[in-house]
Amino acid sequence: MAKVKRSYRCKECGAQTPQWAGRCSDCGAWNSLEEEIVSSNSATNQATISRHTGYAGEQKSEVQALSQVTSEQAIRWTTGLEELDRVLGGGLVTGSVVLIGGDPGIGKSTLLLQAMASMAKRSGVNPLYISGEESLQQIRLRAERLQLEQAPLDLLAETHAEQMIATAHARKPQVMVIDSIQTVFTELLQSAPGTVAQVRESAAQLVRFAKSSGTTLILVGHVTKQGALAGPRVLEHMVDTVLYFEGDTSTRFRILRAVKNRFGAVNELGVFAMTELGLKEVSNPSAIFLSRGETSLAGSVVTVIREGSRPMLVEVQALVDDSPLGNPRRVSVGLEQNRLAMLLAILHRHGGITCTDQDVFINVVGGVKLSETGADLAVLAAVLSSLRNKTVPRDWILFGEVGLTGEIRPVQAGEERIHDAAKHGFSHAIVPAANAPRKSIKGINVIAVKHLSDAIDALMNQT
Ligand code: TYD
Ligand code: MG
Repeated sequence: MAKVKRSYRCKECGAQTPQWAGRCSDCGAWNSLEEEIVSSNSATNQATISRHTGYAGEQKSEVQALSQVTSEQAIRWTTGLEELDRVLGGGLVTGSVVLIGGDPGIGKSTLLLQAMASMAKRSGVNPLYISGEESLQQIRLRAERLQLEQAPLDLLAETHAEQMIATAHARKPQVMVIDSIQTVFTELLQSAPGTVAQVRESAAQLVRFAKSSGTTLILVGHVTKQGALAGPRVLEHMVDTVLYFEGDTSTRFRILRAVKNRFGAVNELGVFAMTELGLKEVSNPSAIFLSRGETSLAGSVVTVIREGSRPMLVEVQALVDDSPLGNPRRVSVGLEQNRLAMLLAILHRHGGITCTDQDVFINVVGGVKLSETGADLAVLAAVLSSLRNKTVPRDWILFGEVGLTGEIRPVQAGEERIHDAAKHGFSHAIVPAANAPRKSIKGINVIAVKHLSDAIDALMNQT
């Protein structure tokens, strides 16, 4: 029987060798050779796969004219978790492949167990939950904790990709969950599970099976804090939807974010709280991200960001303090470090306010990550407030992008953000001039600014 042909490719220079070695003979990089399958042999690979699985693989595809292709309305299942449905774009699309990434311990397994159990109960779907990390007893214990032990859900503990496909081929589940892809290995490669080559090849096999059999596939992947671990990142292009489950494990709140979605909007957010009884949906997130007491404090500012289809109020905190160091610290949680450095430079150059001998710390409350530039103005206001020890009133809100020339640039859906702030009882809003509403909005006083110096004036001269 024909054997699968493997070779090794250097991550650094791309050189290919038939033998593994500790050092690339071309560029001299150490430990850079990765196993891969020689792709010209895909027929042999498929033969190996079908030998193990009894699954013959996809049929040969034919050319069709675009106008002749029939379009089908995507059928969606509701998962029973409204926040998850919204992030998916209105429910789980049948036949799609979804990747859920996140730090270990964030709650991916919990989320999927809850979603699968409720789908099985409500929509009569037959999901198969395959775990490579936990034993069936452990999953049962979690289900008991979630009070879901009676749910009609099939479980399988397996790490062998070909076996998974064989089982799925025989049982024909409508939804298949693989928790997690890092534990899966395929016979085609000899490297250990979790290596990039294994993750990529096993996922490719599973995705091929899912697409040709019409099974909905959900892959779980662990990512490190930096998102650097090559595992799930290499899968993003293979799947239809990529969701990231984030949040600080020390707080209760978890945020599910869509970063790629062929069936819905990206940057849509779902908010959950991890409780004793599993994940609970949070339908009014603004309330929890504003952890503010009755009095206003220096260094704390509220802004309204827009994530997907929904505006959300978040609190940005800054601490600016005399630095004992020659090279003062710039530390930010929830905001990109480089953005902070850039904003401080703009504050210095165009606002005339210097922080060069100060340590600057920024924190976005509730583990939210600011991914849009609309929070720039709020970050600078928080820095200024802490530096001058002058409070920004509790019922003031700011948003706007700050450009390198000190101009305040408009953001998307500005008017909607102001409306949302008014709804939450804010009385003053400092907004980019281009976002100022034509008609006044009831209950809120809009201060339109064109330049950073206007915003600083408005903050410093408030009554
Ligand atoms: P888990 O789903 O195992 O995380 P992941 O699959 O992403 O690694 O969740 C693990 C954490 O969630 C663990 O620290 C315990 C906590 N947890 C709760 O607080 N309440 C619950 O009801 C459950 C099931 C877990
Ligand atoms: Mg898990």
